[in-house]
Amino acid sequence: MVHQATVTAPVNIAVVKYWGKRDTKLHLPTNSSLSVTLDQDYLCSTTTARADAAFKKEDGSPEDRDRLWLNGNEETIAGNGRFERCISEMRALRTKYEQTKPDATKLADLPLRIASHNSFPTAAGLASSASGYAALTAALAALYELNTFLPSSPAPAHLPIPALSKLARQGSGSACRSLMGGFVAWDMGAHADGRDSAARQIADEAHWPDMHAIICVASAAKKAVSSTAGMQATVATSPLHAARCGVPAPGAPVAAYASGRGLVDGPGGTMAQMQDAIRRKDFDTFAEVAMAESNQFHAVALDTRPPIRYMNDTSWNIVSAITAYNTLVAQRTRGQRKYAAAYTFDAGPNAVVYALQSDVREIIELLLALFPFAEGAAHDARTGMQAGERPFEDR
Ligand code: DP6
Repeated sequence: MVHQATVTAPVNIAVVKYWGKRDTKLHLPTNSSLSVTLDQDYLCSTTTARADAAFKKEDGSPEDRDRLWLNGNEETIAGNGRFERCISEMRALRTKYEQTKPDATKLADLPLRIASHNSFPTAAGLASSASGYAALTAALAALYELNTFLPSSPAPAHLPIPALSKLARQGSGSACRSLMGGFVAWDMGAHADGRDSAARQIADEAHWPDMHAIICVASAAKKAVSSTAGMQATVATSPLHAARCGVPAPGAPVAAYASGRGLVDGPGGTMAQMQDAIRRKDFDTFAEVAMAESNQFHAVALDTRPPIRYMNDTSWNIVSAITAYNTLVAQRTRGQRKYAAAYTFDAGPNAVVYALQSDVREIIELLLALFPFAEGAAHDARTGMQAGERPFEDR
């Protein structure tokens, strides 16, 4: 019998940004965050995990280690704390399962082979670690049949999403939000053991079907400063980040971050405004908060010593184009609408533009007219339309 499972997990793009950890091992954040999970037909990670006693080394002797391939290239698992932690936590759960169920197939001690593919540029600020660790955790859970075992499992036939989400968080913080569809908050929590630092679906994928995400690839190159390294440099040095988290100064003690409630988590802060806008399907407020939040995140990156610059000239030209477009929309509607497009940038130069269905065509046409997209394409994550392919000409 073959013991193998394949899982696909979607990318999520934050509109309230996670940036900074108060615990770097458990990935406990310094502020809460909120994201939109994209349609997994376009941007996703697909991961297959297999446990097999028949795996052999190159010399024909039995395999004695786990192996992992990312986009066809083998990665070293030993020494990569995140992969090791994810795999060892899932294996420990399977061991426990086998102990409680003596007739279960002995899988925990078998070597693993894992292959994962991203449908988009890896590590270019398009949330590859979010979908990657979500898919890895879910594939191992399916392989090890942990859905029947984890205590929070809602029913034997379903994957236990909240428990899986916390396990995925330990691979990459933002991965905890990729195990749920729609609009997902990640509450920072206050406990030192991370039990209350968890993702929570605030509205499902059917809530706001008009909402689209247009992906603009300004550069597919790997980013110079990883999110993990960049955010901890920010925590250690940025006074603006301290204000964002409600702590007295950069590098405050962990307890201060756990209880600190600043610009994001404080009363009437970004989290509260954004949740409310989504629940009310209020695009004007959604757009205003999302763009302000993207701006503040990049300001915090620049406030880091030495400064971190993720956006490039093309990114800033997209900001100008969207700003001009919104001004035009406000004029056209005599102020009835303030915004028709909302840009957001993660730790890289690529833009994600949120817009409502009725405006998507015009926005893609505008972006196509203004940008040659030499290195990539604008891509509507809900319809799969590629700007590079001039999607509207044959429609
Ligand atoms: C800018 O989740 O990649 O995309 O927890 O160290 O793996 P680690 O960081 P990661 O950081 C994502 C940062 C962000 C904002 C966000 O997605 O909320």
